[in-house]
Amino acid sequence: MRPLVFAGNWKMNVGPVEAREYLRAFFAAGEIPHERSVWFFPPAVSIEAVAQGIAGHRNVSVGSQDLYWEPKGAFTGATSGPLAKQSGARLALIGHSERRHVFGETDADTEKKVTAALAADLQPVLCVGETLEQREAGDTLKVVTGQLEAALGKRDGKARVTIAYEPVWAIGTGRNATPQDAAQVHGAIRGWLKDHAVTAAPFVILYGGSVNLKNTAELLAEHELDGVLVGGASLNPRDWAQLVRTAVA
Ligand code: 13P
Repeated sequence: MRPLVFAGNWKMNVGPVEAREYLRAFFAAGEIPHERSVWFFPPAVSIEAVAQGIAGHRNVSVGSQDLYWEPKGAFTGATSGPLAKQSGARLALIGHSERRHVFGETDADTEKKVTAALAADLQPVLCVGETLEQREAGDTLKVVTGQLEAALGKRDGKARVTIAYEPVWAIGTGRNATPQDAAQVHGAIRGWLKDHAVTAAPFVILYGGSVNLKNTAELLAEHELDGVLVGGASLNPRDWAQLVRTAVA
């Protein structure tokens, strides 16, 4: 079995009280299968509760959904890498499409956030993806490699960075990329990572966008996909316990 990552992005759902209940129900299904990792991205207020709830369980980690690049200071409402780390985070999502499109985050911001995450000893999970308009214009690969270039291109030395390919038009819409379309973009991302030598192997590239219990097996049958980043379908602990146990060809 090849190693696979199942990442659940709870977005603005699941407070600390709910997170404790969630994890009890999730672990009632047993330990995570070997060769699989489960990553939870709760809202910042729930990171500590999740870190406590997963302690002692194999192959499970928690991360922040975002971070601000300054380590501390007068930045009301923001969470820094060191603060997330202190709450128990080991990972940080950077440049999620909702950060880019709802909160106006730029490519330049993602570069600063990747650097800040690494400085705080958090593994960045850099999200990239095209809009429907960009896909229809045939610009998907140009957009995605441009986002990689902006966030990682100036780095010297190799860092461990996971990439999540999440086409914007597939997020929360019930419309997922076909496994073949996703694999094509993953191949281009892998090619970029190999050519630029700014990230450490093994390269881990996740697919996100309307992943659910019904389509996970088919998506992961494509060996270009090293795992999935899941929003809505990660919110029910019993369904999520089942999804992370999906049999994959
Ligand atoms: P959905 O799985 O709800 O489409 O969300 C995907 C996503 O944005 C995960 O980060």
